[in-house]
Amino acid sequence: MDAMAFDASEEKKLNAVAPAILRWYDENARDLPWRTPPRSGAKDRRRREARPDPYRVWLSEIMLQQTTVATVAPRYQRFLDRWPTVEAMATAPVDDILGEWAGLGYYARARNLHKCAVAVAALGDFPDTEEALKALPGIGDYTAAAIAAIAFDRRAVVVDGNIERVVARLFLIEAPLPAAKPEIKEQANAIWPQERSGDFAQGLMDLGAMVCRPKSPTCLLCPVRETCAAHGAGRVETLPRKAPKKTKPNRRGIAFALTNARGEFLFERRPDKGLLGGMLGLPGSPWSERAPVKSDIAAHAPAEADWRMAGEARHVFTHFQLSLHVYTARAPKGFRRKDNQIWIKPDAAQLPTVMKKAVGAALTTP
Ligand code: ADE
Repeated sequence: MDAMAFDASEEKKLNAVAPAILRWYDENARDLPWRTPPRSGAKDRRRREARPDPYRVWLSEIMLQQTTVATVAPRYQRFLDRWPTVEAMATAPVDDILGEWAGLGYYARARNLHKCAVAVAALGDFPDTEEALKALPGIGDYTAAAIAAIAFDRRAVVVDGNIERVVARLFLIEAPLPAAKPEIKEQANAIWPQERSGDFAQGLMDLGAMVCRPKSPTCLLCPVRETCAAHGAGRVETLPRKAPKKTKPNRRGIAFALTNARGEFLFERRPDKGLLGGMLGLPGSPWSERAPVKSDIAAHAPAEADWRMAGEARHVFTHFQLSLHVYTARAPKGFRRKDNQIWIKPDAAQLPTVMKKAVGAALTTP
């Protein structure tokens, strides 16, 4: 076969990918709360031409960066019920947004959510290009491309984890992640259609989630298996390769659960900057590599009291794993809280997950 003939058949194959994915998406799109139906899948014209609300697309994409579709769906609905428009979110106190975000990961994301809402409300609406979207707080390359494609049908190459896997397999990309990212983006660009960019992005996402799964992919149901180089080579399940994970370092510390006669716990607002910035937490020692020692109690406890070890709370953050020794005590007579501290019943407080675990450990003491 001469080079020209080879190129022509390759190009034909590449050109066939987008139509096949879009046809598949029309039939198989997941019904997710932030979506409108596929652009040509909807039966009547009005639905077919309905554009998703950029506010909803933005909100869902920020939430989905952090956690799974199954976790996001109900939490997304609560956000939307509370703040149905970007203007509503822009005028809400940032603390309400942080509270609603509890358990969804990095609080910097929630702060940026509010900042971005304020910026968009000031602009009057979401901008409709990838570049202008990227200039907004908390919107990076991925999110800008996703909003431009899904909300505005711009041709923007969107690459999330699912799409990465589909493309790595389709093109038998052997380099491990994350080094393979530029090659994956380039190949995604080569198959990205001019039309229905948002449906194509979400079609690839759904294909990745439902068919081209990390384990036990169902290649028989795949609309592009004939084109898939990994399928041809019998290598689907081995891709994408991943560079070995670095183990996360350990950090340790103490959390102090001081209680009063009303069943309230003493909480402290954490500093705005840093991990869990601005959220409530139990008072505690700094988190460090070394194991806690007895003298840490006197040095960091919020009161001089009869501190007893109640248990341990473990939590895995993105960059380290934390083990907190949880100590409990009753507040001594005459105890006065500091300005940044409050007495509150734990179930009435919006707590980050690690602090919920710490309170759980304190409450299960015999
Ligand atoms: N993950 C991130 N964005 C998504 C979307 N729009 N649909 C499905 N899964 C997603």
